[in-house]
Amino acid sequence: MDLGLADRTFLVTGGSSGVGLATVRALLDEGANVATCGRDADRLGRIGTHDRLFTAPCDVRDAAAVREFTRRAVEEFGGRGGRGVIDGLVNNAGQSRMKRLDETTEDDWRDELELKFAGVLNPLHAARPHLRAAAGASVVNVNAVLAKQPEPRLITTSAARAGILNLSASLARELAPDGIRVNSVCLGLIDTGQWTRRHAAAGSGRPYEEWQAELAADRGVALGRLGRADEVAYAILALLSPRASYITGTSIDVCGGVGRGIL
Ligand SMILES: NC(=O)c1ccc[n+]([C@@H]2O[C@H](COP(=O)([O-])OP(=O)(O)OC[C@H]3O[C@@H](n4cnc5c(N)ncnc54)[C@H](OP(=O)(O)O)[C@@H]3O)[C@@H](O)[C@H]2O)c1
Repeated sequence: MDLGLADRTFLVTGGSSGVGLATVRALLDEGANVATCGRDADRLGRIGTHDRLFTAPCDVRDAAAVREFTRRAVEEFGGRGGRGVIDGLVNNAGQSRMKRLDETTEDDWRDELELKFAGVLNPLHAARPHLRAAAGASVVNVNAVLAKQPEPRLITTSAARAGILNLSASLARELAPDGIRVNSVCLGLIDTGQWTRRHAAAGSGRPYEEWQAELAADRGVALGRLGRADEVAYAILALLSPRASYITGTSIDVCGGVGRGIL
C-alpha cells in the first residue's frame, strides 16, 4: 500500500540516533522531505547526505533555536503553492532518567519535566502555522508505556510521560479544527543508544545480546526480546500517513506485549 508520504515534508526531532534515525530513514525511503535535529552536530553529520534531508543542531528545550530550525527547514523545502507547509511533526527527541524517589533531586524533577514538555510544545508552536497550512497534518509524540505503567526506578520519567500522554489528548481536540491530528506511540524496551549506553555503564563485561535477553525477561516482555527502532518507525509512518486521516487522540503501544495489565 502506498502510504502517500512522497513529496511531503516532515520534521523529526532527535533524528541522529535510534528511533528518530530509523524514522528519518523510513521517510526518506518513502520519498518524503525530512528535517531533523539533535544537539550534537557530529552525530547529525553521521546520518549522511541526501537530496531530501535537512539537518541542523538544535536543542528542543530552546524555543528560539527550535523556531530557527523550523524556519530554515521550511525555507529549505519551499512548501507547496507558495506556502510553507509541514505535513507532519514527530516529537521524538529525549531520553529517560533511571532514578528512584530518594535519588531524585529538585533539579532532576525540573529538568525531566522541562525536557518532556518543551520537547513537545516548542516544536509544536514553531511548526503550527505550517501544519495548519497542510490541511491534514499529523503530529506523533514518541512516548513510553511508562505513561500508563509507571516504574518506581524511573519515577520522574514515568510521571512526565503520563503528563505528555494527557497533553496529547488535549492537543488532539484543540488542533482538530485546524485539520491537525495528534497521536502517540508508547514504546516498551527498544534497542537503541539508550540501552547500549546503559550496558556500557553497567560494565559487567557480559555480551550485549545476553544482557538484553535477560533485561527483556526481567521486564516481562511477552515477545522475549527488545524491539528494533525500525519496528517503531513503521508505526510512526502509519500515523503520519494521510491514510490515517480518521485517527487522532489515540496511542499505539510498540512494546512487544510488555507487562500483564490491559494497556
Ligand atoms: N529506547 C527505548 O527503550 C525507549 C523507551 C521508551 C521511550 N523512549 C523514547 O523514545 C525517544 C527516542 O529514544 P531512543 O531510544 O531512540 O534514544 P537515542 O538513541 O538516545 O536517541 C535520542 C535522540 O534524541 C536526541 N536528543 C536528545 N535530547 C535532545 C534535546 N534536548 N534536543 C534535541 N535532540 C535531543 C539525540 O541527539 P543528541 O544527543 O545529539 O541531542 C538523539 O538523536 C526518546 O524520547 C525516548 O525517551 C525510548
